[in-house]
Amino acid sequence: MQLKNSENHYGIIAISLHWLMAILLIGMLSLGLYMTGLPISLEKLKLYGWHKEYGILALLLLIIRLVWRFTNITPRLSLPLLEKFAARAVHWAFYGFMIAMPLTGWLISSAAGLPVSFFGLFVLPNLVEPNDHLMKLCGEIHEYLGYGLIATIILHVAAALKHHFINKDDILRRMLS
Ligand code: HEM
Repeated sequence: MQLKNSENHYGIIAISLHWLMAILLIGMLSLGLYMTGLPISLEKLKLYGWHKEYGILALLLLIIRLVWRFTNITPRLSLPLLEKFAARAVHWAFYGFMIAMPLTGWLISSAAGLPVSFFGLFVLPNLVEPNDHLMKLCGEIHEYLGYGLIATIILHVAAALKHHFINKDDILRRMLS
């Protein structure tokens, strides 16, 4: 398998980044929804810490992914115009969520005056001064973005499965090997 993308296939780097991000995002959504429902405890604080660290990891991976995306060709999508437009719109919506989710998360912590550590390696600077109103606003935006991301993932998975099982084309297969 080649490293880079070609006209018809994704390379190993794009495929690995795709599935790594998929696992990370689904994990982050599940952890986020679970941890916010817990009563205040050491366990809750530990999970918030993990959520923040893996969220920053998602942001770093996104930067690598965007660099790879713009320095590589994207395999052609041989679909009717409207379907192609819908597929590309969903892909760009993902990039929007992948930028906005970590940034609003980082803003929640900054506005709460809490540090964001990256696996003990370094501490990120706070983006804003402590501000209760901003913390609540970013918390709500982060939550609704999460619901939007869940809906987009469902749409994306449903489309991939439809192509594989109903249209029987190679759209899903080319993201697997
Ligand atoms: C891929 C990135 C991320 C995803 C998909 C994600 C997802 C979520 C979700 C679904 C929730 C639950 C929302 C709710 O029900 O209130 C949540 C909460 C939270 N997230 Fe994230 N998150 C991401 C990144 C981050 C980052 C990078 C940080 C901080 C550095 C962060 C900080 C928080 C905090 C503090 C909460 C709790 C908010 C509250 O207690 O109201 N998140 N996240």
